[in-house]
Amino acid sequence: MKHLLKLLDLTQEEIVSILSLAKELKAKQKQGVPHRLLEGKTLGMIFQKSSTRTRVSFEVGMYQLGGHALFLSNRDLQIGRGEPVEDTARVLSRYLDGIMTRTFAQEEVETLARVGSIPVINGLTDFAHPCQVLADLMTISEHKGKLEGLKLAFIGDGNNMANSLIAGCLKMGMSVSCACPKGYEPDAQVLDFAKAYGERFCLTQDPLEAASGADVVYTDVWASMGQESEQKVREKAFQGYQVNEALMAKTNPGCMVQHCLPAHRGEEITAEVFEAHAQEIFDEAENRLHAQKAVLVLCLG
Ligand code: CP
Ligand code: NVA
Repeated sequence: MKHLLKLLDLTQEEIVSILSLAKELKAKQKQGVPHRLLEGKTLGMIFQKSSTRTRVSFEVGMYQLGGHALFLSNRDLQIGRGEPVEDTARVLSRYLDGIMTRTFAQEEVETLARVGSIPVINGLTDFAHPCQVLADLMTISEHKGKLEGLKLAFIGDGNNMANSLIAGCLKMGMSVSCACPKGYEPDAQVLDFAKAYGERFCLTQDPLEAASGADVVYTDVWASMGQESEQKVREKAFQGYQVNEALMAKTNPGCMVQHCLPAHRGEEITAEVFEAHAQEIFDEAENRLHAQKAVLVLCLG
C-alpha cells in the first residue's frame, strides 16, 4: 500500500491485511513484545484542524514502532501563509519518510500524494476519515466476531464519517443504512459507489427505518470542524436524528453503538445511550492506535 487517502481506493484484501496486522500489533503491545518495525523513520503530521485522538495515537504509534513523529501545525508551517501544497510536498519528501495530514479539501491530500515522493495518510478531510473507519471495523469485528453480514445504521450528517463508513463497510461485506436529513446526504461519488451494492445499501430520511434490524448504530456530530457557523441551522435540520432509547429499541439484540468522538450529548446521541455503550466507544478510540500502526507499517515499512 503506497498511501491511505480514502477507503474507496482500497481493495477488500488490503483492508483485511490492515485489520489482521492491527490485531497482531495490538496483541504484541498488550504483551509488551517489542515491535520496532519503523526504527529510524520519521512521520510528519500536518494539522490544519484540531485533534485529540488522531494526533496522540499517531505520535504514540510511531514511538511504539521505534520511529519518530513531528507535529506540524498549520499555524507554524509556511503552508498557513500560502506556500503551495506542491512545494510543501516536495520539500517534506526530502526530510521525512511519510506524511499524515488533516485538512479541509480532499484534493489537498491527493496533491500531496501525487507531487511528493513519500507515503501520505489522510488523518481526516471534509470528504473522508479512513483511519477512523479502519479502527471502527476492527472494533466491530472484535465485539461481533465478524463483519460480513452485519448491518450498520448511520444516523445524522452525510459527512466524512458517513462517506468512509459506506465505503469501508460495503467493501467488507456489511450492509449500510444511512438516515440523513434532506440536503445533508453523503457525497455523490460515494452514493454512486454504493449503487453497485444493491440492497446492501439504503439511504433514507427516516432514522427509525435505518435503525431497524441494525447490529451497529453509528453517529457523529451535526456540525463538523469548519462548519461551526452553521451550528444553529444544523441543530434545526437534525431534529429527530438522535441516537436515543427509542431508536435503539428498533435495533437487533446486542446492537453496538459507535461514535468517532468528540460526542455532543443531547444532540446526536443521548447521555444514556452513550454511557450504556461507553465500553465499545472507548475500545473504538483505543483501536485508532492499533489500526494506524498497521497502516504506518504497511505504508512506511
Ligand atoms: N475521531 C477523531 O478523529 O478524533 P480527533 O478529532 O480527536 O482526532
Ligand atoms: N465529522 C467530524 C469528525 C471528527 C472526528 C468532523 O469532521 O469534525
